[in-house]
Amino acid sequence: MPTTFEDLDRGIRQKEMEAVLSRLGRKYLIFSGKGGVGKTTLTVNLAWSLARAGYRVGLLDVDLHGPDLAGALYLDAQLTADDQGRLIPIEVIPGLWVLTIQHLLTDERQAIMWRGPRKTRAIGQFLGETAWPKLDYFFIDSPPGTGDETLTTAHHIKDLKAILTLTGHRLAIADAYKAISCLKQAKTEIIGLVENQSSLICPACGQSVPFHDPENIQILAQKTNLKILARLPFDPKAALLAEKAQKPLVEAAPESSLAILTRELALSL
Ligand SMILES: Nc1ncnc2c1ncn2[C@@H]1O[C@H](COP(=O)(O)OP(=O)(O)OP(=O)(O)O)[C@@H](O)[C@H]1O
Ligand SMILES: [Mg+2]
Repeated sequence: MPTTFEDLDRGIRQKEMEAVLSRLGRKYLIFSGKGGVGKTTLTVNLAWSLARAGYRVGLLDVDLHGPDLAGALYLDAQLTADDQGRLIPIEVIPGLWVLTIQHLLTDERQAIMWRGPRKTRAIGQFLGETAWPKLDYFFIDSPPGTGDETLTTAHHIKDLKAILTLTGHRLAIADAYKAISCLKQAKTEIIGLVENQSSLICPACGQSVPFHDPENIQILAQKTNLKILARLPFDPKAALLAEKAQKPLVEAAPESSLAILTRELALSL
């Protein structure tokens, strides 16, 4: 049964949501203070790594205004619902299911004009009225900052663990403090920081060149009492291979240090 934006505009059934959430395994929110720091890339590559390792993994996009999961997975599909009106996540590879509002858009360039309550209801449906299979891991890709989408997700999922993604740039660090403070107020556990683009892997010689002062993130970690979970390099060669293969980089460039570090992080979660 095809589904529409109007179908998303319904109330949230809390009990139904709790029953669904209890089957989704370990739940991780990938969030950031600043935009463009690599949340979607990290989310997709963590989920893909765990699915390839034999786990059952769900991927949800709560970035309602700038959904990117379908694009990051090179996945062109149409969202449908079952006979009970539940959305059906799309199985991308064996063991990996994705749900993104991108699969409801008839025109990729169409903007989604939603305000608070409607967004809240849509996220409620993504979590509670979706035919998620039983999972080991559930990853949520969020928009930058701590708006409705992130806070609604944090509100609904009591056992949510959050991973802050950032670069070592001064402004990304400044915004990270605010995002951390906001999730702490929402009583969501933050398990640590992932510094993306901490160094540049030179495509010509393979040498690693530092991007930002490594002390920036160490100071943040100390002041907020958070662990640095990983420091991932900026790897243009791996990114290009991924683009060419139309696959996430852990699949397209599995031997790159970026892929190796991402897989290690995934398996530590
Ligand atoms: N470590 C990396 N090496 C190479 N390219 C990267 C790396 N991390 C991210 N990128 C590239 O940087 C761009 C931005 O990444 P991404 O879309 O994941 O950021 P985002 O935080 O999700 O952005 P937004 O806040 O807009 O949702 C993408 O083109 C992605 O391919
Ligand atoms: Mg994104």
